[in-house]
Amino acid sequence: MKSLKYLMSSISLVVLSFLAIAQSSAQIVWLDELDLSSATQGYGTPRKNKTVDGKTMTIAGKTFERGFGTHATSQLTIILNGNAKSFSAMVGIDDEVKGQKPAAEFVVIGDGKRLWSSGIMQVGDEAKLCKVNLVGIKRLELVVTDGGNGDYYDHVNWAGAKFEAIRGNTFKTYNPIASTPYILTPKPAAFPKFTGAKVFGVRPGSPFQHRVTATGERPLNFAAVNLPKGLKMDAKTGLITGMLTQKGTYLVTLKAKNAKGMAERKFKITCGDRIALTPPMGWNSWNCFAHEVSADKIKRAADAMVKSGLINHGWTYINIDDFWQNNRDSKNPDLQGKFRDDAGNIITNKRFPDMKGLADYVHNLGLKIGLYSSPGPWTCGGCAGSYGYEKNDAESYAKWGFDYLKYDWCSYGNVIDGLPDHDPYKVSSLSYKGGEKLNTAIKPFQMMGDYLRAQPRDIVFSLCQYGMSDVWKWGDAVYGSAWRTTNDITDTWASVKSIALAQDQAAPYAKPGNWNDPDMLVVGQVGWGNPHPSKLKPDEQYLHISLWSMFAAPLLIGCDMEKLDDFTLNLLTNDEVIEINQDPLGKQGVCLQTIGDLRIYVKALEDGGKAIGFCNFGTEPVDMNYADFVKLGLKGHFTVRDLWRQKQISTVDTKTSKIKLKVPAHGVLLYKFSNTQRY
Ligand code: GLA
Repeated sequence: MKSLKYLMSSISLVVLSFLAIAQSSAQIVWLDELDLSSATQGYGTPRKNKTVDGKTMTIAGKTFERGFGTHATSQLTIILNGNAKSFSAMVGIDDEVKGQKPAAEFVVIGDGKRLWSSGIMQVGDEAKLCKVNLVGIKRLELVVTDGGNGDYYDHVNWAGAKFEAIRGNTFKTYNPIASTPYILTPKPAAFPKFTGAKVFGVRPGSPFQHRVTATGERPLNFAAVNLPKGLKMDAKTGLITGMLTQKGTYLVTLKAKNAKGMAERKFKITCGDRIALTPPMGWNSWNCFAHEVSADKIKRAADAMVKSGLINHGWTYINIDDFWQNNRDSKNPDLQGKFRDDAGNIITNKRFPDMKGLADYVHNLGLKIGLYSSPGPWTCGGCAGSYGYEKNDAESYAKWGFDYLKYDWCSYGNVIDGLPDHDPYKVSSLSYKGGEKLNTAIKPFQMMGDYLRAQPRDIVFSLCQYGMSDVWKWGDAVYGSAWRTTNDITDTWASVKSIALAQDQAAPYAKPGNWNDPDMLVVGQVGWGNPHPSKLKPDEQYLHISLWSMFAAPLLIGCDMEKLDDFTLNLLTNDEVIEINQDPLGKQGVCLQTIGDLRIYVKALEDGGKAIGFCNFGTEPVDMNYADFVKLGLKGHFTVRDLWRQKQISTVDTKTSKIKLKVPAHGVLLYKFSNTQRY
């Protein structure tokens, strides 16, 4: 009996302690047990128990086995539904970026309130303990923001991150941004309709090539009334060719006719010093093929531009980026060989056996062609750059028949500092606002600008030095048609957002012939040699294209042109959105009002109307009645058109009306306000 009692109590003890252990271990939920793939971050992919680069997490010499490795700007949303007691982690910047200058701040947000923050952390700082009480909290956000110096090398760890749960693991991570693509752009009508630029600039004596474009049922017949002497139009394709020898402005009437009827449009040709009177539109190989570009891929991209119908919406340039030259480091025989011939002329690599033939091929499709170089001895990818051979290169480009040059910065920093030329990425040392050093920053672009100008053809000159030394203030003086304002874009929300928010400072300098360039488009199948569908959510893509149109930015598609899906085509063929980008007034839209995360951008248009972008940068939908029209510079009666849906949606009297704004998280409403009566 005694032994039975003993046995019973031992069993219950075992059961109890088992339960206790089970209960206490069930109460710890490690962050890495959750699905972390919904996190958004500035670079790389979210990692479990590893750094963003896939290494063991190490903060100030201390290693951690578990946790979440990410990169600022990073956000992970977790639904707790009040089932968590606390959260704890050791946070810090990983030692893998020692030698760089990252800075980041870890922030914990519960039900919209800031619960904890680390303060700005640097690499080498010891891990900080983050411990937060979560009782009653339904939704938790783990955020890492950039520490104020750009989000480069911000490799950050939520090491040993775990929850104390009230009732086991019921937690779910999720991305609050909708992920189902939806198409807003109606198909073009059968009736002819002109698309693309309404103005075109050419220099006297340069070969003229401009393709007038229209949508509508085929066959279409084009005509141009009052075309100046020296030019002719191909009635089938709308291609205008020839040459103007005198400066002057010519007003032409274009006609496009098909079985359904005829459309007319005024078209202005300006023969003078300025070209690229509207932002260049086209495609560039970098965001898609990177170092794997070849002449064959360029031809296929050009063919796809025609086949997909994009050519009918004004898309024109087919630009080869880096890696058409021989490379200093590559082990690939295709990229190895002499850099220049004895006369100093650049030698193309084996993937580009006939540059002139390639340019002819692209021109024969009615498109134009561009290429890339760097003023340093090496391009960013380590191919031969133009340093010391600028004149030869400008002449080669013209001889081959190129229409566009993207001119980078890489390795020129070494030239200035008299350093060995082996570090192409030395780019950040230079940001001069004035004086002798500013001249040093300008010099390589001045030189190439002058040589391009001296060529007997028009070559759009696009500066790619990431906005250093306020390039927008002097780009025009070196004959720049466009200039990058920021670092390279990637297909993440953090990248698109940070680039978008940096555009306003340069806006006053945008004008016909001079465009601020926030970098290429990241919609469709992108990947820098590692193809994948853009990681931007559908609403983020609508916002991206809307903003780049509002910014009067060069529009360069960066995706695989042979893999255009319906959603991407819908983004790239909306003529009313493109018209905002191509507006002849050439103003850049700026943010005139901020309401929480809603930023309202306004772009003045040539016809007196205004394009207005209601852009939601927040993770919650915006649902509000809006009446602050005066803040947007609107006074009087207006019609309001939704440009993505191509639909008139209301009329507004700015004294009395309110409009309902429903803007998805990370999404946009893009409207055009046309004045019907002034006050
Ligand atoms: C730089 C540019 C990119 C691309 C690469 C090529 O990073 O910003 O757009 O041209 O160089 O190496």
